[in-house]
Amino acid sequence: MTDSGPKIKLFKFLKIIICSLLITVLVLGTIASIRTVSLDVNVGLQLAHWEKTNNISLVIDQQQREGLLANFKEAVRIPTVSFSGTDINTTALLQFDKFLRKAFPTVFSSSLVHHELVANYSHLFWVPGSQPDLVPYMLLAHIDVVPASEADGWEAPPFSAKEIDGFIYGRGTIDDKGALMGILQALEYLLIKGYTPRRGFYIGLGHDEEVGGYKGALNIVSLLKQRGVRLSFVMDEGLAVLDGVISGLEGPAALIGISEKGAATVKLSVSMLPGHSSMPPRETSIGILAAAVKRLEENPMPRLFGHGPERGTFEHLAHKFRLPMKFIMSNLWLFSPLLGRVLERKSDTNAFVRTTTAVTMFNAGVKVNVIPSLAEAYVNLRIHSAQSLKEVLDLIESTVGDHRVKIEFIDGFDPLPVSSFDEMSFGFQIIKKTVLDMFPTITVAPGICIGNTDSRHFKDLTNDIYRFAPIWFKPGDAQRFHGINERISKKNYEELVQFFFSLIQNCDIQKLPDPHSSVHEL
Ligand SMILES: *[C@@H]1O[C@H](CO)[C@@H](O)[C@H](O)[C@H]1NC(C)=O
Ligand SMILES: *[C@@H]1O[C@H](CO)[C@@H](O)[C@H](O)[C@H]1NC(C)=O
Ligand SMILES: *[C@@H]1O[C@H](CO)[C@@H](O)[C@H](O)[C@H]1NC(C)=O
Repeated sequence: MTDSGPKIKLFKFLKIIICSLLITVLVLGTIASIRTVSLDVNVGLQLAHWEKTNNISLVIDQQQREGLLANFKEAVRIPTVSFSGTDINTTALLQFDKFLRKAFPTVFSSSLVHHELVANYSHLFWVPGSQPDLVPYMLLAHIDVVPASEADGWEAPPFSAKEIDGFIYGRGTIDDKGALMGILQALEYLLIKGYTPRRGFYIGLGHDEEVGGYKGALNIVSLLKQRGVRLSFVMDEGLAVLDGVISGLEGPAALIGISEKGAATVKLSVSMLPGHSSMPPRETSIGILAAAVKRLEENPMPRLFGHGPERGTFEHLAHKFRLPMKFIMSNLWLFSPLLGRVLERKSDTNAFVRTTTAVTMFNAGVKVNVIPSLAEAYVNLRIHSAQSLKEVLDLIESTVGDHRVKIEFIDGFDPLPVSSFDEMSFGFQIIKKTVLDMFPTITVAPGICIGNTDSRHFKDLTNDIYRFAPIWFKPGDAQRFHGINERISKKNYEELVQFFFSLIQNCDIQKLPDPHSSVHEL
């Protein structure tokens, strides 16, 4: 992902408010519509009758295990770093291309698979299905990684893929070479076992996701548009399986990202005539700009908790909490304003409540005795799903409220549309089924990505974009992401291969089972 999002400790601070809530509950106890028990959303799915399409099973023997781990380690050792939009390691990208062809000979030689290079370093695969009437889907992953330096305190050099206690350490193990290699390894195995898909699919591997995906993902999208491709759904990196990360939640939760926050960068500047510091004006450019920045910090964007998809997350997880949390979370129609107030107290949970405003650069002045003619600051915003880029820019202007401060829009985009996650949602239900087949005790819920992914470029090709891989996150793991000691366990990497192996086959169903048929089958 392009950004390390805040840790999801959504529910940690809720205990504080329970006393006041109980009073509210007593007062409102007579309202008949309060739901005391939320639906167990997993039950319907497990009982419903699914057409069997995952006919090929994967039992990984010791020799295969060594082979798949060797491939993965080699992928991590190639330093495909994106330093900036104009500085990417093209030597490493070329090396990675050669490596993929060697690691997955069947993928690259099968007559079923059409492969092409896009923008020199990105890859697009197309595997047509035997039933062209089934709308194809697409799996995405990215080749590039963010920089990493051993000097920052890594336990193993960041491009060593060294094994420590069952984990493989290295930049890219989570973001995003685990999924990338998992997808291709799964396809390699499927092809060797004689699999031919019914439903066609695409695989897109971008090479510059960490710097916006403007060459890789964008060119893949324009190729697909030229060819008139429509996609049933797109699946990319993003969220994961959270195990012990959300306090109060019983058991692990797989959060499938159904949207991403928008983003904007705005430049504020104040210009004045330069002068000597012995005869200063009453206000300098620095003072005027500092006051504007301060106003932005003191007047955060409106609290919008409950107005975006974060609401669905709480409602899906509610049944896995004990009372009274279960009660609060099942009745967000009543409690969301209160919950929003609690969540906004900490910066990591505040990110779910509103559009965040961060002043990231402030430059002015060159000499101790000169009044600077120019002061400028950059503000980086992450836009909540319930707000638009335009609304945010308007609010900045009114909050700054000083015509001497010039406001320039540098770049940005609206929050991504919210993908479907109901019982009729093909992509969501396929991903959910695949997760539950592998890990029956996990709770699956929709979630929201704070950072951005390549998949945002695909929104004209599909209505449904999901951001997920079954990577297990335990407490403290979120800091490894874009940080030091990024790692994945060998077991978890193998699970990624298994996951994509069965996901691809699960996508071959003609249509989802009727959610209401399950009752009659009992
Ligand atoms: C899987 O096997 C079932 C029953 O054996 C068969 O009806 C179905 O067509 C097979 N599906 C695929 C995708 O091969
Ligand atoms: C770029 O990749 C090459 C080949 O993998 C590697 O030898 C080189 O050190 C990398 N350059 C930088 C600046 O990381
Ligand atoms: C691909 O490489 C060619 C030749 O080196 C170059 O002219 C072209 O700009 C590159 N395309 C992209 C999208 O980087």
